[in-house]
Amino acid sequence: MFYTIVGTQWGDEGKGKIVDWISSKADLIVRYQGGNNAGHTIKVDDKVYKLNLLPSGIINNKKCAIGNGVVLDPWALVNEIDNLKKEGIDVNCDNLFIADNTCLILPIHKLLDEINETSRGQNEIGTTKKGIGPAYEDKVGRRAVRICDLKYPSYLKQKIEDLHRYHSDKLLAQNLDKKLSNYFDELLSMADYLNSFTVPMWKMINELGSNNKTIVFEGAQGSMLDIDFGTYPYVTSSNTISGQVFSGTGFSLKNNHKILGITKAYTTRVGSGPFPTELKDNIGNHLGEKGKEFGTVTKRKRRCGWFDSVLLKQSIRLNGVTDIVLTKLDVLDELKEIKICIGYNIEGKEYDYLPSEEFLFDKIKPIYKKVEGWQTSTAGINNFNDLPKNAINYIKILEDLMESKISIVSTGPDRKETIDIFETLLKI
Ligand code: GDP
Ligand code: IMO
Ligand code: MG
Repeated sequence: MFYTIVGTQWGDEGKGKIVDWISSKADLIVRYQGGNNAGHTIKVDDKVYKLNLLPSGIINNKKCAIGNGVVLDPWALVNEIDNLKKEGIDVNCDNLFIADNTCLILPIHKLLDEINETSRGQNEIGTTKKGIGPAYEDKVGRRAVRICDLKYPSYLKQKIEDLHRYHSDKLLAQNLDKKLSNYFDELLSMADYLNSFTVPMWKMINELGSNNKTIVFEGAQGSMLDIDFGTYPYVTSSNTISGQVFSGTGFSLKNNHKILGITKAYTTRVGSGPFPTELKDNIGNHLGEKGKEFGTVTKRKRRCGWFDSVLLKQSIRLNGVTDIVLTKLDVLDELKEIKICIGYNIEGKEYDYLPSEEFLFDKIKPIYKKVEGWQTSTAGINNFNDLPKNAINYIKILEDLMESKISIVSTGPDRKETIDIFETLLKI
């Protein structure tokens, strides 16, 4: 069986929690895009883990992999592994595998990310400044350093020099060429260690797939941050939708594949860009506080708003979602009335999808349906029938609007605070 876990909104939907939950029965958990711009939180009893690059299955002592669709910052990876070791979780070449054709994020990419953002001025994207965009640009520009290059010091040195030369005008223009210390020796000193994890991933993963193993593909970011289908240019630099699983790992089997669309019971976004249902009022503040909506990576306050069924329908189709996982239902507990966006009005015309034109984004007026809140606690409920009547009603309305079934409801950050409605997925 194969599961893809994909965010349907603008990220931070609770993917990490659900990957951890579903990984109990998995043989391999694989990241297939993004990098350490991701921040995935897992709570097990009173311990909270935050992961950026490592797949969330690592907390469950599962075998994990990083696919070639990821851009990998070697320093960040080593740091994350060291930190996990301190928490008693050992990451070694028996439980972590890295595709040998994975492109690296180097210190120059972080600097370029900074420069690009500054030069956008008011139109800055609000990136995580982890060097993600510039690293993907170099990948597509066919000049990236890949992890397999670390085996060949003189070749590696040449590639880094060529890369720096390519970007030198930009660095010189900002007088930043001196800011870039010589990191070649440091990178080389990590080479053997990093190489101990590398494998031809495409081969390994297809063999596992053909042998009836269970593989979980862990998405990062959300569908509305997809480089092609998101709110361009306010997006990340990778494809975040489920189709990326195949090119981001080399996996080719398509049967028995469930695609779980992780969806917050409301909406959040961190960084700049359009957000039609954003609430800049007390309700927005309440959702932010109750939902602890602060970025895992950058600690920035996340913008909060109502559930947007227009976006959801779009995401469901883009990803081929088979099941929706509705998270953070408990955050809505205290609201008397809840609104759900059911359409967009743009300059008098109704839209049932998000148009591509950037200049239309600001003109979107959401059309809302109002529903009654439940005003009792759902926190920690793990049996569907224990949910208050109005919460069940909210779930049913969302299902009708999305034309998709909600199979899992999450009522708290902990593994145990999960309702597997049909018990057809995995039971913990
Ligand atoms: P991810 O990037 O999609 O993995 O999500 P993040 O970890 O960045 O953000 C989700 C946050 O919500 C984390 O702090 C989780 O611990 C928390 N969380 C996940 N599910 C629930 C839930 O059902 N209820 C509440 N209250 N918090 C949740
Ligand atoms: P997880 O996996 C939420 C956002 C940034 C910025 C834009 C581009 O935790 O859901 P980038 O550094 O990728 O070039 O930034 O994308 N962004 C995320 N927002 N969750 C994430 O990951 C994100 N990763 C990137 O805030 O707006
Ligand atoms: Mg996150």
